[in-house]
Amino acid sequence: MAAFPDNFLWGAATAAWQVEGAHDEDGKGLSIWDVFSHQPGTTYQDTNGDVAVDHYHRFREDIALMAEMGLQSYRFSISWPRLLPAGRGEVNEAGVAFYSDLIDALLANNIEPMITLYHWDLPQALQDEGGWESRATATAFVEYARLCYARYGDRVKRWATFNETIVFIGHGYITGSHPPSVNNTARAIQACHHVFVAHALAVQAFRNTDIQGEIGFVNVLQPHTPLTQSAEDIAATELADAIHTHWFYDPILKGAYPEELLEQTQRLWGVPQCEPGDMALLRDNRCDFIGLNYYRRETVAANPGETSTQANHSGERQSAGEFGFKGLFKFVRNPQGVYTDWDWEIWPQGLTDGIMMIKARYGDIPIYITENGLGAKDPIVDGEVVDDPRIDYLRMHIDALENAIAMGADVRGYYPWSFIDLLSWLNGYKKQYGFVYVDHTQNLARKRKKSYYWYQNVIASHGEQR
Ligand code: BG6
Repeated sequence: MAAFPDNFLWGAATAAWQVEGAHDEDGKGLSIWDVFSHQPGTTYQDTNGDVAVDHYHRFREDIALMAEMGLQSYRFSISWPRLLPAGRGEVNEAGVAFYSDLIDALLANNIEPMITLYHWDLPQALQDEGGWESRATATAFVEYARLCYARYGDRVKRWATFNETIVFIGHGYITGSHPPSVNNTARAIQACHHVFVAHALAVQAFRNTDIQGEIGFVNVLQPHTPLTQSAEDIAATELADAIHTHWFYDPILKGAYPEELLEQTQRLWGVPQCEPGDMALLRDNRCDFIGLNYYRRETVAANPGETSTQANHSGERQSAGEFGFKGLFKFVRNPQGVYTDWDWEIWPQGLTDGIMMIKARYGDIPIYITENGLGAKDPIVDGEVVDDPRIDYLRMHIDALENAIAMGADVRGYYPWSFIDLLSWLNGYKKQYGFVYVDHTQNLARKRKKSYYWYQNVIASHGEQR
């Protein structure tokens, strides 16, 4: 039996703010990331997406590189304020035309588009009215989703509503490192509820179109392993699973919150406040597939100490502090672990385990691996980008994926992060992920890395040669 199903898609991914640039061109409105990143000290070396890697102007060149690589599918996100500068209401036709041209160029090269509607760049105008804490943002999201269905649904079959709620809500409302920089758990839980409502409404709206396609959700896949077999560490790991995984997957795939945790959040903070009909809405609008973004696992220990959220944004090894919540759990370094320069543990087995965990808890939901990749400072030798560690990382993860498929998981595509080197939200340009290098000293010239040719061969051999 072939390891990868015949219609399995070999893709790659990016997101609008991280590649496009042209942040205020052709009628685009500002996003929360445009505004946030312009405030000194918010991002690594004060990088912002004003230019990014200029994909907005160079998308044809980038798609030519995708085509030459043999890419079968490209996952990208749409910038909501590029289409609706005020978040709702007046449509910016120049923005609509940009993605329309992009989609046409992809299809002309036999590359299937996969659209992410929301990869964190909320229109600032909506943030000014309360952002995700306001239920009106969910209504505006559906208006935006409908616009995208109407303009692109004739050509695009694969859609995802949101990318990684845990990240933009967790960092936006708990650690405060993403906009709108709030530190308040109750507000986070309520904002998160509005995202779930927005998702369900957008799925419902999708099913009222005649688009011949599928709609899903993209989540972080982060397996948790206890540091020791002590009862305390095991209990902490179960809590991490409940808070970091079940809370974000259950409403999407089961159409309900995890009961015990819901009871606790409502007792402690009185949230989420739901409107009548919300639960039925979630239950009736579960998605067609789940997208999994897998990078690493976390090792978990009990945390009698303080809450701490110190991350490594510099790429200096072991500069990350602990991340944990007082009295609940903390993520600690695995003494046996192999780590990246940004202190992310490389653990390919976690991809197999994570996929099988999803299958066990949620049944036979179709899966796409919507992100997976190595953030590294790529070596340049004699002018060539020799990113062997990336090739090793991807090879080991494709092995892990193959194992999950052999164990019966319905995985339909693999989208390494990222097609091209891009702007990391909090880590600048130093942390590279791409198959294509961007030379910031040479007018953003593109250059194929060693991994580009390697992945070209993986695709051509349908995963056989790797
Ligand atoms: C995912 C995001 O969380 O991880 C991407 O969807 C992001 O947008 C990627 O770039 C890698 O994270 P980082 O922090 O290394 O850029």
